[in-house]
Amino acid sequence: MSDGNADSRTRLALVTGASSGIGQAFALRLGADGYNLVVVGRRRDRLEELVAALPDIEVHPLVADLGTDAGVEVVAEVCERQSLTMLVNNAGVAHYMPFTALPARKASELLHVKVVAPTMLARAAAAGMAARGGGTIINVSGMLAFGAPAPLGKAPGRAVYVATLAHIVALSQALHEELKAQGLQVQALCPGIVATEFHERQGMDLSAVPRMSAADVVTASLQALALGEVVCAPGVERSDLLDAVFQADLAAFGAQGPHLAKRYLTS
Ligand SMILES: NC(=O)c1ccc[n+]([C@@H]2O[C@H](COP(=O)([O-])OP(=O)(O)OC[C@H]3O[C@@H](n4cnc5c(N)ncnc54)[C@H](OP(=O)(O)O)[C@@H]3O)[C@@H](O)[C@H]2O)c1
Repeated sequence: MSDGNADSRTRLALVTGASSGIGQAFALRLGADGYNLVVVGRRRDRLEELVAALPDIEVHPLVADLGTDAGVEVVAEVCERQSLTMLVNNAGVAHYMPFTALPARKASELLHVKVVAPTMLARAAAAGMAARGGGTIINVSGMLAFGAPAPLGKAPGRAVYVATLAHIVALSQALHEELKAQGLQVQALCPGIVATEFHERQGMDLSAVPRMSAADVVTASLQALALGEVVCAPGVERSDLLDAVFQADLAAFGAQGPHLAKRYLTS
């Protein structure tokens, strides 16, 4: 990789979780669009496959475990040093499990991959993007960000995973407001169920469930950038439903006051 002083015409994207699924689809699409790439994951062989699949651009594999502080620091350093045009915070695991059975090690890994990593990588990339007059940060969340109050039913335990997705939506919305004047575009990407290795790697077989393709998720994300959407929900036909959620959030936020609400008065 260069020292970060890239030719201003060269577009460079860093994609985490590029070794499979949605991240791999982002890498292939952005590569076909002429971006040079830094592709991050733990499976080096999968990252090397991207190098072979995209001979016309520069593809730099970066093996790092985003479940650890050390791994996040290595990738954050690259985000800070390189002149990124786009950062795609996509890596993820779910560790679906009842909350009380979730081992601390798995909870910590999940929080690192889905909260610490996207937050710290966005932090590392944003200042340089602002200094260069712009950039794009796509943070992959999921529709479950809006599903926290849903009854458990037959769904597996998912409290920590759902909370990480909500973090990503809130982070992206707040960053959008904070950085738009400096030319940054920030998106929370919220797919529903996607046909990737995600569930299968956790021992779940969703092959009989209708699923969106990873390529369609990427198409939606890039189109949403053109539309100026901050929250992109590829499978939601009625975008007004999402607008209503965010308007209700702001209405509740704005309705607070310094006095105890009447329903909490004890006498
Ligand atoms: N599939 C769905 O139904 C669905 C729905 C909503 C949201 N999402 C979100 O979409 C994103 C991508 O998931 P996917 O569906 O494409 O699943 P996937 O095929 O399993 O891909 C997950 C990617 O994350 C990487 N990753 C996982 N743990 C990592 C770690 N500790 N360090 C570095 N990289 C790590 C994996 O790479 P290595 O294993 O090589 O490290 C892999 O490239 C996730 O953030 C997920 O939350 C998925």
